[in-house]
Amino acid sequence: MSDDSSVLRTKPVEDVLAQAGGPDGEGGDDGHGPGRLTRRLGPFDLMGFGIGIVIGTGIFTLTGIEAKNHAGPGVVVSFLIAGAVSLLAALCYAELASAVPTAGSAYTYAYATIGEVFAWIIGWDLILEFALGASVVARGWSGYLQELFDLPTSVFGEGSVVNVGAIAIVLLLGVVAVVGIRESARVTNTLVVVKVAVCIFVIVAGAFYVKAANLSPFIPPARPVEEGTSGLKQPVSQALFGIEPTAFGFAGVLTAAAVVFFAYTGFEAVANLGEETRKPSRDLPLGLLGTLAVCTVLYVGVSLVITGMVPYDELNEGAPIASAFEAVGAGWASTLVSIAAVAGLTSVILVDLVAMGRIGFSMGRDGLIPRSVAAVHPRWGTPWKITMMTVVLVAVLAGFVPLTALADLVSIGTLFAFVVVSIAVPILRRTKPDLPRPFRTPFSPVVPVVSALACVYLMSNLSLETWLRFAIWMVLGFLVYFLYGRRHARLNAS
Ligand code: ALA
Repeated sequence: MSDDSSVLRTKPVEDVLAQAGGPDGEGGDDGHGPGRLTRRLGPFDLMGFGIGIVIGTGIFTLTGIEAKNHAGPGVVVSFLIAGAVSLLAALCYAELASAVPTAGSAYTYAYATIGEVFAWIIGWDLILEFALGASVVARGWSGYLQELFDLPTSVFGEGSVVNVGAIAIVLLLGVVAVVGIRESARVTNTLVVVKVAVCIFVIVAGAFYVKAANLSPFIPPARPVEEGTSGLKQPVSQALFGIEPTAFGFAGVLTAAAVVFFAYTGFEAVANLGEETRKPSRDLPLGLLGTLAVCTVLYVGVSLVITGMVPYDELNEGAPIASAFEAVGAGWASTLVSIAAVAGLTSVILVDLVAMGRIGFSMGRDGLIPRSVAAVHPRWGTPWKITMMTVVLVAVLAGFVPLTALADLVSIGTLFAFVVVSIAVPILRRTKPDLPRPFRTPFSPVVPVVSALACVYLMSNLSLETWLRFAIWMVLGFLVYFLYGRRHARLNAS
């Protein structure tokens, strides 16, 4: 702990724990509600939330785009690499989440370990991740719905000027997120079953249509890219080291890994539910690792089957899974997949909105954003004001900004948070050696360091443009912090 006014002051872990589980009235007591959330969730609710937020636009759309443009059937390897990087980060998250179970997740871990300014950066960064994540998926949702019902492309899907479909679904789910965590859990659990079932269906039914010839060569030989990777579009690794841009080959598989990493983003939202979990020490690690294990198996299976069904260069970029079934003459399966995609994407948006509210709640409780904004509703028990504000932001982004630009920003934001969380593990072990850790990251500090480096590596495969947008968001964040958060932080009073 540090009691100075330095930007590196830390919030005592004891305070964090007291706020999360202390008696009513402790922490966040803004006069508008109890100031803490209610413990209602078990391990399966957590995995439901995790899978609900993780399986989404990534597997349903990016698989096609990346197989076609960067990796061929090797996209399966890309999914494995991105899954492995996520697993390393999950092991770090699990230690922190089980030791310091709070609604703020990575934000709070950073506050307790490396200091306020880093906590702010993470909180700001997580807002980016979840707000943009929800927007990306709302756009994907709108696209699948358009395909399913042949709706007007002027207001649904990526061709629209104002994506009215995306705006509508965000507002609708915003209401569910505000009304209550239990309602949200119930809705997502139902949708998750549908989504997992369709992935298993794709793997089993699709397997009958797989042709070995489509999977060979598994990683198509490298070739120069035709267009689009010069200037701001080129990966940072290329811009820095002047490597000739290529598609396919192992470099292509790595590029695709950075992009399909998006498919895994969100599992760490499970950690945001620490304060609402009945037995956080056992259930949080179970929820995090279980979510990731299920998703990795499904992603590898689905991407293998899809690239086996259709030659990779003929894959559809908008709705690759549904189109693959159509291509092999199984139109009925295609419709089924589209329906499930719409259902599945719905749950991602909902969980994103719920997670956003929890992060805002934690930041408000600490005084880094106005505390009245983070008020908990007396009846619904949710941080309703901040949730409603973010719903409006998400609706605007989903209405106007293209899907791919948003998706890469989500990935960079998430990877950045993973880097900070990974580094926080060995730091907290040194500064708080006696803190009970129901789950310990194995082989620390090796696993956390490898995790941080792997995330940085994937970040370097994202475009210069994405880095610039991320930098602008971060500069904005610094302005807010220095003009507001630093002066109003609750720690000023202690
Ligand atoms: N991981 C989520 C998805 O793939 C955000 O849509």
